Amino acid sequence: MTDDEQRGFGTRCVHAGQASDPETGSRAPPLYQTTSYTFTDADRAADLYALEAEGDIYSRISNPTVATLERRLADLEGGVGTLCTASGMAALDAATFLLCEAGDNVVSAASIYGGTHTYLSHTAARRGIEARFVDTLDPGAYDEAIDEHTAYVHCETIGNPSLVTPDLGAVADVAHDHGVPLFVDNTFATPALCRPLEHGADLVWESTTKWLHGSGTTIGGALIDGGSFPWGEHPERYPEVGGDNPAFHGLNFAEEFGDRAFTAAALRCVGHASGARNPRSPDGTSLGERPRGRPVSRGPRRGLVGRLPRTGDPRDSRHRPRVLGGWVRRNDRVRAGGGLRGRQAPL
Ligand SMILES: Cc1ncc(COP(=O)(O)O)c(C=O)c1O
Repeated sequence: MTDDEQRGFGTRCVHAGQASDPETGSRAPPLYQTTSYTFTDADRAADLYALEAEGDIYSRISNPTVATLERRLADLEGGVGTLCTASGMAALDAATFLLCEAGDNVVSAASIYGGTHTYLSHTAARRGIEARFVDTLDPGAYDEAIDEHTAYVHCETIGNPSLVTPDLGAVADVAHDHGVPLFVDNTFATPALCRPLEHGADLVWESTTKWLHGSGTTIGGALIDGGSFPWGEHPERYPEVGGDNPAFHGLNFAEEFGDRAFTAAALRCVGHASGARNPRSPDGTSLGERPRGRPVSRGPRRGLVGRLPRTGDPRDSRHRPRVLGGWVRRNDRVRAGGGLRGRQAPL
């Protein structure tokens, strides 16, 4: 059992994925505001570029400050790795870019965030990827919609804004019967309330902009890899992860990186396309930063990461569904079945 496994969830929100800095003893994660890195010698550089050694080359691909948040989120969600991105939508785009090509389709729950619906039905569609929306709560509907060109099955843990909550285990079983991964947006629940990887999901994405950061200062996203999907068994469907990748001299990420294949490929193949995260932004997220210059007592509350969630605090994400449910019941502007009148998708 590792140190992190022995620690409680609240402690891991603050400490997972980070030790004090060996050079300075700094307790908080240092901010590595650098684009690039030096190498001890040419052989070390050659090994890094050939992916034969682990280390930093260029901050578009990896950065130690960003890596602290990546390890922390992987720990909290129970995954093997994370790609942090410039926004939540960038995380969705990164996964779609890596797993789909023209002629593929995505089977998604219908009750999802409006921006995701628009991305799948218009943005991805312009690249030849078809979106098939199905009844969120009916596993049979996912089953009927999946075919041999389905790249992934998608849903939200708790739908925004409908609050419709699918049976993740049942949807995962259907996806896996077809040899397809389940990809879950866990923004609304956060790993404090639900860890979709424990219910059969293979990949999770989050908008860290919301409760994971919590201060309303920082747009960000994360793509968390459960390490469970056998990409290597489907080289034709997922050539960039499970096949010989020509962009890396024929390297096969599934063979080279085992259960971390998706993260390894995502960092190198789509980090550039999806908007690599600025080191200053994960630094704030890991620390549970408040906006600068505001008195602590008046600043917005910090988010889940970087602070200890306190039981009994109604603003904690663990209590949010109860609070939200009460508000929805009391508010006569809310129709039964979800959605605010006159607004399609509130933030
Ligand atoms: C459930 C959900 N997923 C994803 C997103 C997109 O995240 P971002 O705004 O960080 O790109 C949002 C944003 O509102 C959201 O509510």
